[in-house]
Amino acid sequence: MEQTTVVANRQFIFTDQSLDEKLEITIPEILDSSYGMFTWPCAPVLAQYLWYHRKWISDKTVFELGSGTALPGIVAAKCGANVHLSDTAKLSKCLQTSKKSCEANDVKDIKLHGLTWGQINETMIKLDIDKIDVIISSDCFYDTKDFDDIIFTVAFLIEKYKATEFVFTYQERSSSRCIEHLLDRWNFTGVQVPLSTFDADKASIAGSGLPGNHTVHLFKVTTS
Ligand SMILES: C[S@@+](CC[C@H](N)C(=O)[O-])C[C@H]1O[C@@H](n2cnc3c(N)ncnc32)[C@H](O)[C@@H]1O
Repeated sequence: MEQTTVVANRQFIFTDQSLDEKLEITIPEILDSSYGMFTWPCAPVLAQYLWYHRKWISDKTVFELGSGTALPGIVAAKCGANVHLSDTAKLSKCLQTSKKSCEANDVKDIKLHGLTWGQINETMIKLDIDKIDVIISSDCFYDTKDFDDIIFTVAFLIEKYKATEFVFTYQERSSSRCIEHLLDRWNFTGVQVPLSTFDADKASIAGSGLPGNHTVHLFKVTTS
């Protein structure tokens, strides 16, 4: 039976009432069950962090892993950052999803890379990048079989580009998983950043209805 593809645009309006500033982002989503085709509850939390710290991110080079619909990367780009998006090299439709988000928001300077976690291959070694300051990821730690591969990729990028921070959001799906243990095992110094410190302690960020009632945490790993 032929599958019908339903595309819908989701709006995010990030605001700072004290400065009377706002940022509107449109994310095209494909409403099927394939991973990465819609915006996951973690994404607006990370995007809100970047929006809240937009002055800090504005002169950084940012590399997003498993970008999917790429809300955080797009927000970083709109705030002035030089942004690279990446998603698995195994499924071209995933990177196409990121590309569609760039087009919908008229951000032309973002570079896209097919990068599969845990693989050191020619693509990864020859990434066309001069530097990376900050690595970001939203909801990439969802399947424990990938956890070490993700951290391996992060460690590779930190080593090669001397990135100073890895900021990621993590959705709590099982109490038996512990992200802190993973960071410890890799000798990463990480802290959990309370959502209230960047105005993300609410069920509807940027008017999106996300993260809803999902429990999302934000971690910041510093490398120096
Ligand atoms: C749960 S989705 C999150 C998407 C997006 N970051 C968000 O928060 O809306 C996980 C993302 O990781 C990507 N992904 C899954 N396995 C991967 C792998 N082995 N290497 C690189 N990316 C992968 C998927 O294609 C998808 O875009």
